[in-house]
Amino acid sequence: CGIVGIVGDRAVSERLVDALKRLEYRGYDSAGVATIHDGKLERRRAEGKLVNLETRLQAEPLAGNIGIAHTRWATHGAPTENNAHPHFTDGVAVVHNGIIENFSEIKDELGGAGATFKTQTDTEVVAQLLAKYRRDGLGYREAMQAMLRRVTGAYALAVIFEDAPDTIMAARSGPPLAVGYGKGEMFLGSDAIALSPFTNEITYLIDGDWAVLNRDGVEILDHDGNRVERPRQVSVAAAYMVDKGNHKHFMEKEIYEQPEVISRALGHYVDLIENRIDLEAVSIDFAKVQSLAISACGTAYLAGLIGKYWFERYARLPVEADVASEFRYRDIPLSPQSAALFISQSGETADTLASLRYCKDEGLQIGAVVNVRESTIARESDAVFPIMAGPEIGVASTKAFTCQLAVLAALAIGAGRARGTVSRQEEERLVRHLTEMPRIMSSVLNSIQPKMESLARELSKCRDVLYLGRGTSYPLAMEGALKLKEISYIHAEGYAAGELKHGPIALIDENMPVIVIAPHDRFFEKTVSNMQEVAARGGRIIFITDEKGAAASKLETMSTIVLPVVDEIIAPMIFSLPIQLLAYHTAVFMGTDVDQPRNLAKSVTVE
Ligand code: G6P
Repeated sequence: CGIVGIVGDRAVSERLVDALKRLEYRGYDSAGVATIHDGKLERRRAEGKLVNLETRLQAEPLAGNIGIAHTRWATHGAPTENNAHPHFTDGVAVVHNGIIENFSEIKDELGGAGATFKTQTDTEVVAQLLAKYRRDGLGYREAMQAMLRRVTGAYALAVIFEDAPDTIMAARSGPPLAVGYGKGEMFLGSDAIALSPFTNEITYLIDGDWAVLNRDGVEILDHDGNRVERPRQVSVAAAYMVDKGNHKHFMEKEIYEQPEVISRALGHYVDLIENRIDLEAVSIDFAKVQSLAISACGTAYLAGLIGKYWFERYARLPVEADVASEFRYRDIPLSPQSAALFISQSGETADTLASLRYCKDEGLQIGAVVNVRESTIARESDAVFPIMAGPEIGVASTKAFTCQLAVLAALAIGAGRARGTVSRQEEERLVRHLTEMPRIMSSVLNSIQPKMESLARELSKCRDVLYLGRGTSYPLAMEGALKLKEISYIHAEGYAAGELKHGPIALIDENMPVIVIAPHDRFFEKTVSNMQEVAARGGRIIFITDEKGAAASKLETMSTIVLPVVDEIIAPMIFSLPIQLLAYHTAVFMGTDVDQPRNLAKSVTVE
């Protein structure tokens, strides 16, 4: 979910909605705004995308110089207008991102004392508690503090009270929240991008902080109500342009941006004159590290799995890689001689952040591969490895994935050099391949597009699709399946090619295409044998290979996509392009909401 708040000297509701647009990536199943005008609290809410709220506000505008607003990704309670934030109880309005874990206990208690709940949300207990404390005679600050002592779980909160029309109260424990400074106005937002139209001067609240904002400034308090100082910083978020250019969707734009952003990312890690990795950018002491733990979610996790192959191969470093939601609860025996790497586009994913904190407590060196440099994960890490992809708006990750890969490849080579497992000559060779990548990506993007479009037409008729690969093509097969299911809603699975015969082979028939990702690498022959097994059972194969692979395989396929022959170190990035375009065009054929697929959110700050 995304939160904004403004306390100012002119009307806020339109500006709140503008800021919400920049937060829509955090969820888009309903939205709402509340303001105080002439001493009265009022709200407008709407189910579905933000445009519905805008239409609503056009019909029934909302005056007022103070307000809070929210875009929701439902956790508790269906995404209906009634469950949309802000929640109102007796002169209190609340917007919330996160989960109040003890909500049902509080609900029972308040219900027992006569309170009636109007929604199915966990958030309503915050409004009800605040209203109760006010009825008990507490001032609004005291009520806020008492409420924060009572609730457990994860929250970013913004609250306004009808009888305090100059003040926004805010609190953070988990999901991010930033305060923005204006002239005679103050702002609150889930991130700096939301606040960028208003100000670039911001302060991030840290966990346990709560704050009182009025037109002239902010007072930040700790859990015990003591005033604390937090650094005020200049955000770079405002510098980013966020539009689709000539593209139909952000996802398409982001796919075509890859050569440019990868080249920028590599520029940060590579010394182009010497053809070496810039070891200053690799600020973890890999020579001393005994093992590496990688933890992330979704697409970032799949980038991490590919990174595992590289760190093991080039740096001879044992790697543990797991999805963050498992990693954080697995009681993994970790040694302080290990390093841990967290990969996250947003830098805010709740499970990834929790894994990071776990490893920090265990005394590991912490590195973060992030896109958003001001994010919580970046701020809590010892070493930050920016992927420099620029804002990624499409919910299905594309350029962030390949930039994560480029950075992981550079780190693995750098680690190999530090550990003496990659020779000077080998380093130069690998770096040359990396720096060739943007050019190859451009030419691949230009050449394969028509074929991917016609193949997508076929794929859009299918119910299930299987992706297979070996080596680094195995996580890529999973990423291909993830991309397709996220945006086209076609069921897809990614499997290690060698596992085919241990299960998925039972599903093979003429109705389920099998997409085989197989550059002509060390594993090629083995993967071709698996393809034979598919063909022998009447399966239809879409073969994504390179020129050598296409020449070597004599199998009949439904379609063969031929890419240039590239080195193993860049193959995952180059082979990402056809799988991204295939998912994209399939979704376009099917008419789904490509940039904001149903039920998903780009940044998931709940566990
Ligand atoms: C969500 C997004 C995915 C993303 C994952 C991890 O599920 O829809 O695209 O891969 O979160 O997000 P992060 O920001 O940590 O990379």
